[in-house]
Amino acid sequence: MLVTGGAGYIGVVLCERLLEAGHQVRVLDRLYWGGKPIEHIVDRIELIHADVRDFDDRALDGIDGVVHLAGLSNDPTAEYNPSANWEMNAVATEALAAACKRRGVGRLTFGSSASIYDGLGDGLFDETTKVAPRGAYSRSKFEAEQHLMRAADGRFAPVILRQGTVYGYSPRMRLDLVVNTFIKDALLRERLYLHGGGWMWRPLVDVTDVAEAHLRCLEAPASTVGGQIFNVVHENHQIRQLAMLVAGSLSLHHRHVRLETAPVPSINRNYRCTNRKLQDAIGFTPRVTVLESIERILSFLPIDDPIELAHPRYYNIAWMTMIDEVIGTHGAFADVWSARRRDAGDVVGRAKLGS
Ligand SMILES: NC(=O)c1ccc[n+]([C@@H]2O[C@H](COP(=O)([O-])OP(=O)(O)OC[C@H]3O[C@@H](n4cnc5c(N)ncnc54)[C@H](O)[C@@H]3O)[C@@H](O)[C@H]2O)c1
Repeated sequence: MLVTGGAGYIGVVLCERLLEAGHQVRVLDRLYWGGKPIEHIVDRIELIHADVRDFDDRALDGIDGVVHLAGLSNDPTAEYNPSANWEMNAVATEALAAACKRRGVGRLTFGSSASIYDGLGDGLFDETTKVAPRGAYSRSKFEAEQHLMRAADGRFAPVILRQGTVYGYSPRMRLDLVVNTFIKDALLRERLYLHGGGWMWRPLVDVTDVAEAHLRCLEAPASTVGGQIFNVVHENHQIRQLAMLVAGSLSLHHRHVRLETAPVPSINRNYRCTNRKLQDAIGFTPRVTVLESIERILSFLPIDDPIELAHPRYYNIAWMTMIDEVIGTHGAFADVWSARRRDAGDVVGRAKLGS
């Protein structure tokens, strides 16, 4: 299997799961977060340190399935550099689908986003809902979905997974996703702010369940999943409820956490969706609850190390803007790769195809 973005938050957990299931794994990643998150598996995978926008068809040699996760992975980074976001999330996905068809790769699962449902008002949305994504990030995901749907045919079976907001522990940890952020804020500040009272809804899912959904969709018959869109959601929660779950869990660890209301934020995402179709098609329902996941995160996070918890590598927008400043390509982190390419020796990678 080829996993683009396999060194990212979801990607590492997915690679671990694919290896456990007996698959051979090749990762293609530009290693925004470095090689450390895949250090523990690098001897068992093949790593291509490359940008998905420069995709070389040889990356598909011997591959029978692709999981496509590479790209900018949230609203702030997409808004920071909309053109890089469009190239990575929309254009590169179209090119990857074309490469799969040229090389006879029959299956591709795509890490799309349930944020596509944002802006539709109240309601429980499913895959038949007519969507009108607003932000740079969700528009690029929707565009990529449409490319994939158009590319689907009797020999190429793309599967679109509209992942809810993910929570949980990964060796490449993100602390900029709502549950994970609340845990970090509770530890660092001992208080959680509920913007606008925290009444907004979000579909949530644990990172191990997302990995499992990709694995099941890679292995399911093409007639069941090919050319289909599936939401991947454990449960819809109000932000306020998530704060209470985190505060309550932390109090069991003798940490006192105060909840406070705060003004409505400028970006106010609010949407709910259902996992029903995935359950009906392949019998998979995400299992890991927010409460279970909080305990797991707490067992892995350096909870007594405030400097580490605040490190920008755990916050995509903080890290990417910092890379821009360090490398001097302000406003164009998409081009950081060209600068990085020259010192590719500093990464954990082993084989580069063709070398
Ligand atoms: N985490 C979530 O809550 C969530 C929810 C819905 C959808 N998604 C989608 O799932 C995918 C994975 O998300 P994540 O949370 O693991 O994000 P992440 O930022 O942790 O990982 C993305 C990975 O892709 C790599 N990458 C980025 N641009 C690349 C490029 N141009 N070429 C090659 N590699 C590149 C990065 O180095 C990183 O390893 C993304 O496509 C994201 O949009 C994530």
